[in-house]
Amino acid sequence: MPSPPNPSDSNESLRSAPRDELVFAHLTDPHLTRPDPVNGADLANKRILGYLSWRRRRHAIHRSDIIEALVTDLHAQTPDHIAVTGDLTQIGLPGECRDARTWLENLGPSAKISVVPGNHDQYVDAPWKETLGLWYDYMASDAGSASNELFPSIRVRGPVAFIGVSSVYPCPPLLATGRVGKTQREALEKVLRETSDRGLCRVVLIHHPPVPDSYKWRKRLEDARETCAILRSAGADLVLHGHTHRLMLNELESETGNLPVFGLSSASAGDHEFERRARYFLYRVSRDDHGIGITWSSRVFDPESAEFRMESDWRSISQIARALRADQG
Ligand SMILES: [Fe+2]
Repeated sequence: MPSPPNPSDSNESLRSAPRDELVFAHLTDPHLTRPDPVNGADLANKRILGYLSWRRRRHAIHRSDIIEALVTDLHAQTPDHIAVTGDLTQIGLPGECRDARTWLENLGPSAKISVVPGNHDQYVDAPWKETLGLWYDYMASDAGSASNELFPSIRVRGPVAFIGVSSVYPCPPLLATGRVGKTQREALEKVLRETSDRGLCRVVLIHHPPVPDSYKWRKRLEDARETCAILRSAGADLVLHGHTHRLMLNELESETGNLPVFGLSSASAGDHEFERRARYFLYRVSRDDHGIGITWSSRVFDPESAEFRMESDWRSISQIARALRADQG
């Protein structure tokens, strides 16, 4: 496994000296913060529902010992980069966002970690600087990139372009829907085509699953069809998402071949159901004269040892896709 980049490397130096292999990890929905203590003003909106849900049920599902075990295991694997697809918090309170910032700093430097927000991180309209803005350097595009807005973000590391898409907005009570929006979709199409022209492996990070009808109506991506139309026409190499708190392995047919769309269980879930057990994935991307190759490995929480262990050894993405098609056939 290649050695991790020097944390003191600037984004610029990482871009100007691309390597032909990169190993990165994907984790999602750690829900690692506690909204306590809260006051009445904090909950004088939709947050009261999320807070009660956390008190009633979610606090027992998302365990700090599991996310700590994951980070220990992740550091031992020494990936070059880490992708986090949102829901670091419970109800997006400023105190939670500060705690999540501290957690990110302990996980690694912002040059080495790419974050997109989840719906719990933007639960209601809240002052940007006191909430999501605290994670800016973990979300922002490389200096000098063509993107004018925060999202879609473009972060190039070796042969990989991490393309961050925000699907979150303060949705109405009792919903957990997402939306990419027309402006961001149009920018996404340009970014996908531009990074393709540069021969980069395009890894799209988004919180909500973008495959239409793949998840509950109440929690769906509202413009999944329009977003998928762009992924199909402009192409990508991999789409990684969270939100569902369960394994979801899908494929989209695109102009450039079958596109894997992989979702993960929560990184902190103390759930024994197979699809919901805490896990993270590792991806190895290599680029040579024949093109781009992606292999994949999975690590899962073992309740008996209270440690993460290998669940699936390195396999090519195309092998998984074939197995997936056989399952669905
Ligand atoms: Fe979540």
